[in-house]
Amino acid sequence: MFKENTLSGQTILVTGGGTGLGRAMAERFAGLGAKVAIFGRRSAPLEDTVEAIRKAGGTAAQTSADIRDPEQVEGALSRLEEELGELTGLVNNAAGNFLAPSEDLSYNAFNSVVQIVLYGTFNTTQAVGRRWIERGTPGHVLSILTTYSWTGSAFVMPSACAKAGVLAMTRSLAVEWGCYGIRLNGIAPGPFPTEGAFSRLMPKGFLEQAKKASPLGRFGEPPELADLATFLFSPMAAYMTGEVVTLDGGEWLKNGQEFGKFTDVPRDQMKAQMAAMKPK
Ligand code: HXC
Repeated sequence: MFKENTLSGQTILVTGGGTGLGRAMAERFAGLGAKVAIFGRRSAPLEDTVEAIRKAGGTAAQTSADIRDPEQVEGALSRLEEELGELTGLVNNAAGNFLAPSEDLSYNAFNSVVQIVLYGTFNTTQAVGRRWIERGTPGHVLSILTTYSWTGSAFVMPSACAKAGVLAMTRSLAVEWGCYGIRLNGIAPGPFPTEGAFSRLMPKGFLEQAKKASPLGRFGEPPELADLATFLFSPMAAYMTGEVVTLDGGEWLKNGQEFGKFTDVPRDQMKAQMAAMKPK
């Protein structure tokens, strides 16, 4: 659906762009004409992703940085802009998460997730936003949230707190920075099978049950998320800001609906039971 030049003229930074959903977005953006900058903590996946983008004819640069450290973020932005030119877009994709009972969390366990997700997103968003405001240029910030940003979630409480904070940041800055031509939006994915997420969040034996949690009966595929992100960076979404688009196959609605679980029962059986309840 997208023309090959849909994102030409844009230079987009994807945090955590070396693996998983970050890599899928970086590759898609580059394939549609954007220059792509990525950073993360580990050099090997960053180098691998940049090489793959360049081999496919795209333009990309990488540098390592830990988003928890504002000075490292500043340094990374300067190096990336020196190589690619001024950034026009940012994807806050880098995250940290694991399954754990909240009563057993150490201070450092809670802190490490909140530092990556909330402080890391703040560090990057503020640093990039300051540059755009000083230069008087517009920009777009897309943050990868989750559907539990608004419901909260058992066993990933630090991530839920942090993602809720990023949602509040997105809506706050959409209003505060609209006058500078800066848009901020979010995508709230359900489960997408990436190594980073599933190795930490999908216990053995839960895969089939997790698929059935969504009305569409499957997980998302990274290119589907990359396509939505592309739309949000394209000129077609120029009037959208402060919005969050859910991409979860209907999962959170089903699990929040009073009778949503009835859809798991074979339909003939459900129909027979409903017919038996109908007054004669
Ligand atoms: C309890 C844990 C733990 C676990 C780590 N800790 N894993 N506690 N259960 N499974 C504790 C450690 O013991 C330590 O506390 C503290 O957390 C910091 O751990 P470190 O390993 O030293 O930190 P660090 O190397 O910085 O790693 C950060 C991390 C790690 C968040 C813990 O998982 C990480 O790097 N993740 C990055 C990638 C990632 O998580 N991707 C998934 C995102 S998916 P003590 O007290 O011992 O020092 C996502 C999608 C959600 O968010 C949507 C789903 C639908």
